[in-house]
Amino acid sequence: MPKITIHDLYKKKAEGKKITMLTAYDFPTAQIVDQAGIDMILVGDSLGMVVQGLSSTLPVTLDEMLYHTKMVSRAAASALVVGDMPFLSYQAETADAVMNAGRFLKEAGAEAVKLEGGTQMAGAIRAIVNAGIPVMGHVGLTPQTSTALGGYRAQGRTADAATRVAQEALALQDAGCFSIVFEAIPSAVAEAVMPKMEALVIGIGAGPATDGQVLVFHDLLGIREGRGARFVQRYADILDEMVSGVAAYADDVRTHRYPGPDHGYSIPDEELAAFKANLST
Ligand code: KIV
Repeated sequence: MPKITIHDLYKKKAEGKKITMLTAYDFPTAQIVDQAGIDMILVGDSLGMVVQGLSSTLPVTLDEMLYHTKMVSRAAASALVVGDMPFLSYQAETADAVMNAGRFLKEAGAEAVKLEGGTQMAGAIRAIVNAGIPVMGHVGLTPQTSTALGGYRAQGRTADAATRVAQEALALQDAGCFSIVFEAIPSAVAEAVMPKMEALVIGIGAGPATDGQVLVFHDLLGIREGRGARFVQRYADILDEMVSGVAAYADDVRTHRYPGPDHGYSIPDEELAAFKANLST
């Protein structure tokens, strides 16, 4: 399969075909996602919560994101890889934002970067795009600023708040984002903004009107404990299967059923006899 390009994704949008995106944080997971034919893999900073067991994405570092993006890029034969810029890797100085974004492409093999925030990020986005780095924006619920937003809650639920989300999306589009994530906003708000969007809009908890959808891999397959957000749809319950597989292994070891005769290596009888003789001298 050839690598999917941004041009291919724009073509999908023009043809009214939905775009698929899923997170992955390591080589085997990215292989699964890629082989399943997903268009884009997001190495999300959600890995802080999903993989590192943190309670927010804020402590995730740039080096950690690059480390995970490298693993994913090695596995992504066809999916376009988007590396998520972690908190404080792009907000303080535009020059740092460009250099840090560049590291995702130069060192980690990503094809694009994602960053959170609206109008106030337009300058940094313009500079990154001018450096030749495709940028995906992210509006609505932006986990890196969830404290300022009043927690992990849906955004744009009043006329003013919805207008702000729309203005931010348009500002990101003007700044040159090839794509924008709409997270946790009313479906009707997303639907109303869509006719104004030339960028590829990928929704998560934003209803069906967006150009595509993204979910967290572990939520989709039920590898994470808990109910998850309202918008999560589970397609499997892998956690239960994993726990029973591991428990069955532990039980087999404890009850001497594993390893069995088929799991061992043999040695010719005469070699064994000679070896035992060596041991006893
Ligand atoms: O970090 C992440 O995984 C994300 C997606 C949920 C959009 O930002």
